[in-house]
Parts: sequence; structure tokens; C-alpha cells
Amino acid sequence: MAHNANDLLVSDVDAYLQMHERKTLLRFITCGSVDDGKSTLIGRLLYDSKLIFEDHLAALEADSKKVGTQGGELDFALLVDGLAAEREQGITIDVAYRFFSTERRKFIVADTPGHEQYTRNMVTGASTADLAVILVDARQGVLTQTRRHSFLVSLLGIRHIVLAVNKLDLVDYSQEIFDRTEEDYRRFASEIGLDDIVCIPLSALRGDNVTEPSVHTPWYGGPTLIEHLETVEIESSLQSGPFRMPVQWVNRPDLDFRGFSGMIVGGSVAPGDRVKVLPSGRESTVARLVSADGDLDEAVAGQSITVTLTDEVDVSRGDVLATASALPGVADQFEAHIIWMGEQEMLPGRTYPLKIGARTVGATLAQPKYKVNVNTLEHVAAKTLELNEIGVCNINLDRPVPFDPYEMNRDMGGFILIDRFTNATVAAGLLHFALRRADNVHWQAIEVNKDAHAALKNQKPCVVWFTGISGAGKSTIANIVERKLHERGRHTYLLDGDNVRHGLNKDLGFTDADRVENIRRVTEVVSLMVDAGLIVLVSFISPFKAERRMAREHVEEGEFVEVFVDTAVAVAEARDEKGLYRKARRGELTNFTGIDSIYETPENPDIHVDTSQIVPERAADMIIDHLRLAGVLGE
Ligand code: ADX
Repeated sequence: MAHNANDLLVSDVDAYLQMHERKTLLRFITCGSVDDGKSTLIGRLLYDSKLIFEDHLAALEADSKKVGTQGGELDFALLVDGLAAEREQGITIDVAYRFFSTERRKFIVADTPGHEQYTRNMVTGASTADLAVILVDARQGVLTQTRRHSFLVSLLGIRHIVLAVNKLDLVDYSQEIFDRTEEDYRRFASEIGLDDIVCIPLSALRGDNVTEPSVHTPWYGGPTLIEHLETVEIESSLQSGPFRMPVQWVNRPDLDFRGFSGMIVGGSVAPGDRVKVLPSGRESTVARLVSADGDLDEAVAGQSITVTLTDEVDVSRGDVLATASALPGVADQFEAHIIWMGEQEMLPGRTYPLKIGARTVGATLAQPKYKVNVNTLEHVAAKTLELNEIGVCNINLDRPVPFDPYEMNRDMGGFILIDRFTNATVAAGLLHFALRRADNVHWQAIEVNKDAHAALKNQKPCVVWFTGISGAGKSTIANIVERKLHERGRHTYLLDGDNVRHGLNKDLGFTDADRVENIRRVTEVVSLMVDAGLIVLVSFISPFKAERRMAREHVEEGEFVEVFVDTAVAVAEARDEKGLYRKARRGELTNFTGIDSIYETPENPDIHVDTSQIVPERAADMIIDHLRLAGVLGE
């Protein structure tokens, strides 16, 4: 059944590709805990099919130009490219893809090692797979892990499951144990909508039912693992769906040529097809499909191409080209499944960069509607999602994006969320649908705008944002600044943490999530006040960089002055005017900034007030000078 590896060692890449060109490709993932024998199984598959592929992979990479033009093999090159792109962004993904083939099919198997980051790796591997091999140890049967992996796999759109009941040699090839495991598994799987399941009794170590039927399981009449993998029918809904291509880059080598390059993630396209550019909605006709091998008559999902259009329409990186006859949606509010993969819990209200297709936008998540208990599939109330938790949330984007529901197209409906400072992937998301309310709330045009408000007050509106630990002196300095501005006839307003927490934010405490929400609300209020033409003074601990950055980005360039009121914890504690440090030390107050809650020191404040060097009056003068120089005071 398997090839002789020597055939390949003597042949060149072209010959190899030709030999395999007509074979279908099956991508699958193996899921199991470390002790379930996952690596042994993969090793066994590679060994028995006598095609340990690494050498060839290197050859293929070296010849990537050719690979990139070989129809069916294109996926393969892109897979490698895709990973390289993620690595550049510092997103660590630890998934090993192995390539092997038999006479009937070629395979890409995603091996997802690791304990800690298992979910992350699994999501990465599963998001491109057609089938999952879920391993269980015959001695243990269906475990929490098994359920968890199955739930994830079904969520990520994999419809074909192999339950590999492994280590059967250790239970004397017991049919009873196998049957019981199968029954348990099918019961759970049907609840999560998985119905194409094949259960195979295996010993990866001994080779039972991997590539050869085992003499030890005469009671089993089903296929061996490799037989099943070779013959299972995979619907290629992607290629039959409507045409979609996120534009990776605009290719403009000279004035005569302007093409849009990317990978087709749905359907097919041919010259003459009517397409729309989204989100703008402009329509045009495909002129040419350019590849390294010359022009194509047609290109299908999985291929990378450069499209030229008959009209000079505006297309930028991140836009989506789609067939004009079946358009994706365009929206900025969604419901989505979120698989949280960050070490730090999800913070509703924080802005996370969101990557969908070739586009990155800012996104905030609302508090989860629920999280899922993967054992019982129950929906559980939740304020946040912790590492490896899965929930459903509404999500708000700062700009509309083209999308299809994840169920219809994984590439058009799948996204990741990133930590803006570390660049780590903190979540994977699957779009369900756009929220209708987004369509029904419009912007109302207002005649008296910010400029008009500001002109009447003869000032330039701005925000002076004081940050620092409790007792640092923020409010004292802010108060003096406001008094001085007021004396000069300036129109101001001072928002102080303690005061706002008596009203607008009285429902919030001091957890990280509540502090994020505290600052999010204040930021919204601040931008309204800036719009009203005011000089707004804000005195909040605002301990997190991410929210201070968000606040800055909420107003126009030059309208935000960050003042870091820098006092050592020991000094603030010695002063302790409100007695809060004492309470915190006695354990009567938890999550106290500087004691058991973090304060992220500003790296680049506009004004740094070192309170050990300078008295509040002098600090206030410094700030007024800064505002005068910035032209804020209209003097
Ligand atoms: S922030 O972190 O969310 O920005 P904010 O400025 O609104 O905090 O509120 C801080 C004020 O709340 C402090 O000046 C202090 O008087 C009071 N406070 C009560 N509990 C805490 C706590 N656990 N941590 C910090 N401040 C607290």
C-alpha cells in the first residue's frame, strides 16, 4: 500500500508533484493527552507508510516558486507561508505539520504538542483540518480531556471524527472495553452535533489496526486507521461556496499594472466575473488572473493569485473581493464564540487588536453572555473568560469588516485577538452573526460641532489625564490646575475617580475587569466633554497601559496630555490620608493598587511629576506652561 521511500529519494520535486497531483488531500489533526500515545501513533503512521517527509519538505520549500504554481500543492506552500507570517508577528504557535502520502491520498497531519498551551495549539491545528483523530487510552475511557477536545473540534467546524481507542494491548484486546468506550463517546458526541464517527480499536505501539488489520481483534470488522483516512469522503464546500479573496497586498510594480494578491478562501473566480470590493461595495469585473506561471482561466479556493480588474476601483490591503452575486456581510458588531487563550483573563471593555482575513481592527468584548462547561455542555454565567475557557460574547469593532459566519467559511468568519503590547494571541473567535442593532442606530448630524463649541469658548479642547497610585497627589494637583485655568476664564471640568465612582461608576469595584470598565466609561464621557469644547481634567489611578492608550486614541492627535504623578508606594503609604493602605495591609481591603493589584508605570508620559522633587503648586504651573505652549489656552 505504501510507497517505497527510495522512489522519492531519486526523483525530483517536479516528479513528486506530478505523481501526487491527482491525489486528494486530507488534513487532519490528532488530539489526545501526552500519555494517550499521540506521538507514537503519528510516528507509526509515518513509519508504516514509509514516507518520513521532512527531507522532501525542505526540498519543496527551496523550490517554493514552483510549488506555488502547482494547483493542488498550493495549500501546502501557503501553510508554511502562513506560519511564517504569524511568527513575524511574534505569535508563538507550536504546531508541527507532517506530510505523508499513500498510493491513494496525501495527508497533512497537525501534531499539537504541549500541556500548557494545548488549547492554543489545537485551535491552530484544527482550524484548517477536515478530520480529527481523538485518542483515548483504553484503560481510562472517555475523560474530561476527550470531551473538551471533541467540543473544540466540533466548534471549529470539523465534522469527521475517528475515535482511536488506543493501548488496547494493555487491556487484553477486550471487546467489552472497546464497546463501552464507543458507546460513552457516541452519547457525548451526539450532544455536540458530531455524527460522522468511526471508532477503531488500536495499539499504536504494536501496530494493531493502524495500517494492517490486527489478529488480536477478530471481533472488529471495520477499517484500519489508514484505510479510513484514505477513503473517508470530505466535502469540499469551500470550493463550491461563493468566491471570496481577502487582499493581502496591492501589487503595483509599475504604472501599467495594478493587481490584488491574496489567497482565495472560498469558491472560484474567472475572468469576466462580476466582483465587489468590500467593505466599500464598489463593483467591477475580473480582467485577468495572474500567476507565476502566466494567466489562468480559473482559480479556486486554496490558490494564491493576483487579480486585475477592468476598472480603476479603490482596493486596499485587507479588503475582500467577493462575487457580486452572493456577498458577505459587512458589520462592526457581532456575536461570536470566544476561545480564551491568554494567561491573563479576558477584560471586557479593553480594546484588543482583532485580525480577520488580511485586516486588523480594534475590538472590545462585552461581558460574556455565558461560558460553556465542556463536561456537561451547560451554559454558565460568567463575568470574564480565563485561560482555555470558551464562551459567547458580543463584540464591537472600531470599523466595519466583511465577514461570513464561521460555519459557512472558516477564513471569513474566524479571527484572533492579540495583546497589543506583547503581540501574543489571546483568543480565537468564531463569528456567528452581525447584531441587528448596528443597522438600526445611525449617526445623527449635529450642526453645532466641536469647533463651534470651542470657538465660543476661545480655547482648544483637550484632556489632561492624571495617572498614579492612590495618594500620589493626582487630585491635589488636578484641583490646582483647574483653579488656575478657571481664574484665567478657561472652561474646564474635573473628573475625579472617587467622585465618579459615587455615581456613573458606583456599580464597579476594583478587580482588573472593573478598572478597565471604569476607564472605558470615563473615556466615553471625556470624549463627549472634549466635543463640548472643554478642557477636561481626569484624575484616576488608571493603572493599565492599555486603557491609557485607549483613552489617548479616543480623542484627536494633540488633544491628550498624560501626566504621571510619580510617588513611591512607601511614601504614599506613609502619608495614607484616607487610611486605605493601612486597611489593605491588614487584609481588610483587597486588590489595592501597589499592594496586591498592579500599577503599570507610564513609559512615555507627556509630563512626569516626581513628587519627591516638586510641590503641587509648582507641578500645576508646569502643566499650565505645557498647555500654553501647546496653544490650548488661546493666549
Ligand atoms: S482605577 O484604578 O479604577 O482608575 P479610581 O481612580 O477610579 O481607580 O479609584 C481610586 C480611588 O478609589 C482611590 O483613590 C481610593 O480612594 C479608592 N479605593 C478604594 N479601594 C481601592 C483599591 N482596592 N485600589 C485602589 N483604590 C481604591
